[in-house]
Amino acid sequence: MLGVLLEAISYQRHRPSCTRARWAVTPYTSPKRARMSDVRTVSIQNIKKRASSCVNRIHKRIGKAECDMSGNLEQFLQELSRGLDKTMVSVNKELTMRDRIKRSWSMRQCARFLNVSHQHLTKLAKDHDDFPAGQYVGRERVFTLKELMHIRALLAGTGKRPYEYLAWRKPEDPLPVISFASQKGGTAKSLSAAHFAQYLSLHYGMRVGIMDADPQSTITLYFVGGEEMPTMPDENTPTMVDFAGLFQTTEDLPFTDYDAPTLDTFFKKTSWPGIRLLPAHGETSEGEIQIARILRADIPGKRFYRFLKDAIDRWRDGHVPVTKPSELLSDGKVDKSKLDAALVETLDCIIIDYQPALTLFQLNNVIASSSLIIPQTMKGFDIATLSTFVTGLLTMLRHIFANERLDIGAGANMLLPTIVQRTNEQDLKQVSNLLENCPDEVLPVFYLRSDAISNASDVYQSVYEYEPDTPGKKKGINRFIDNADAVNDAIVSRLWPGLERGYADAWMEDFYDFGEDAE
Ligand SMILES: Nc1ncnc2c1ncn2[C@@H]1O[C@H](COP(=O)(O)OP(=O)(O)OP(=O)(O)O)[C@@H](O)[C@H]1O
Ligand SMILES: [Mg+2]
Repeated sequence: MLGVLLEAISYQRHRPSCTRARWAVTPYTSPKRARMSDVRTVSIQNIKKRASSCVNRIHKRIGKAECDMSGNLEQFLQELSRGLDKTMVSVNKELTMRDRIKRSWSMRQCARFLNVSHQHLTKLAKDHDDFPAGQYVGRERVFTLKELMHIRALLAGTGKRPYEYLAWRKPEDPLPVISFASQKGGTAKSLSAAHFAQYLSLHYGMRVGIMDADPQSTITLYFVGGEEMPTMPDENTPTMVDFAGLFQTTEDLPFTDYDAPTLDTFFKKTSWPGIRLLPAHGETSEGEIQIARILRADIPGKRFYRFLKDAIDRWRDGHVPVTKPSELLSDGKVDKSKLDAALVETLDCIIIDYQPALTLFQLNNVIASSSLIIPQTMKGFDIATLSTFVTGLLTMLRHIFANERLDIGAGANMLLPTIVQRTNEQDLKQVSNLLENCPDEVLPVFYLRSDAISNASDVYQSVYEYEPDTPGKKKGINRFIDNADAVNDAIVSRLWPGLERGYADAWMEDFYDFGEDAE
């Protein structure tokens, strides 16, 4: 049945003369986005009025023809899609008109990000003309993200170990491609991926490329609002489906091998210096259909699971790191244009946020990855779902390995327990059993369930970006920042051994209460 459906769709969609074969669907609207509308302005009375008018309409229809409720499925989807589009207009405005990253960081917080003492940073601020002015909030001097990056460049240019301040990739280093994937929905994939990307920027000044593989565009929502992407992406914005070359753009080939400079234009600058985003929108779900179409064309030598890997390799070969962190000063000052150019010259890693599914498109992501991180909740049958995902993926990989030996996931791979309820015995038991049975595969540092996170994630902000407006919220957010720092530090220790900061150890010390155990 699915085969017939795919065939019908790909037949309609394949127009050899067209410049870009696309499936004209209206963007998929996540129920999560609907939450973004300001519910406070919609009174219960309003909702009641609309609900009763709906009931009246249904009654009238039933009076006319008993079974003629909403036409067929196509009609239902069309009507729903039209209505969702209208609903989205206000939601989008609210989302996109909000400018991102309003917050700034104190000298002490910057010192922690830079891994130097507060005294050292204060002295540098006093001694160096080129130290950013910052702003005074009360008696505290605070700095923006751009200023933090400027301080990094200053430290890298004047310090003995420049790569400690800007942990940039050297020309001979591999390009890590880190996937956050799981078949189950709502396991904090996007949240973990967004926090990891921002952590790498805040603590190491890394240039991170984020690829959104999920048509729900959750991670896109965490980053949209940047210089190059002030509004939500629309159907003309290139996505991973374009990057992987899955659309036909010429008559000769059913796919497109874009060259490295073109691929680079698909990454959009965000408000985080050095973080670029390849966003998603409804059309991302077309990846699957396009792979099916290309499969039918049966092009010799072009493997259906290698499209993304080949594109990333092509981009990587055209974007070898050139500028060293020590070369960012001229006449003792940070050369701003050189720094800006270096921030988009290459990427130090790529992070992919998956859709909750195991499809051929997602398989392309797996094949392109050097590390797989599986965020997984610990409730009831979650482990059974995880087991299905793991065996499904293993089966797919074995099929591929039977034809071609590929080096996939050569970096560290790990299972990351998420939304673990500290007070729930079953959650803790699941984590404990997993740690006992898979000691090398499971991270002993994990995300705890937090009520505070919903304040931040309701507005698609990470806890790093979110500024709580009450002391109560601040406490919860700070606790979650400690948790996120520990998880991210644990991941860093496996991906780049030696770069870790000790946050993971400190968290474990506290969580497992080693002192008490030893007594
Ligand atoms: N530690 C946590 N404590 C409480 N809620 C959390 C936590 N982590 C994530 N959540 C909430 O869980 C929901 C799902 O998170 P997220 O969107 O990151 O999951 P996902 O796996 O990417 O989902 P999907 O499968 O739809 O892509 C969000 O509403 C988020 O706020
Ligand atoms: Mg997600």
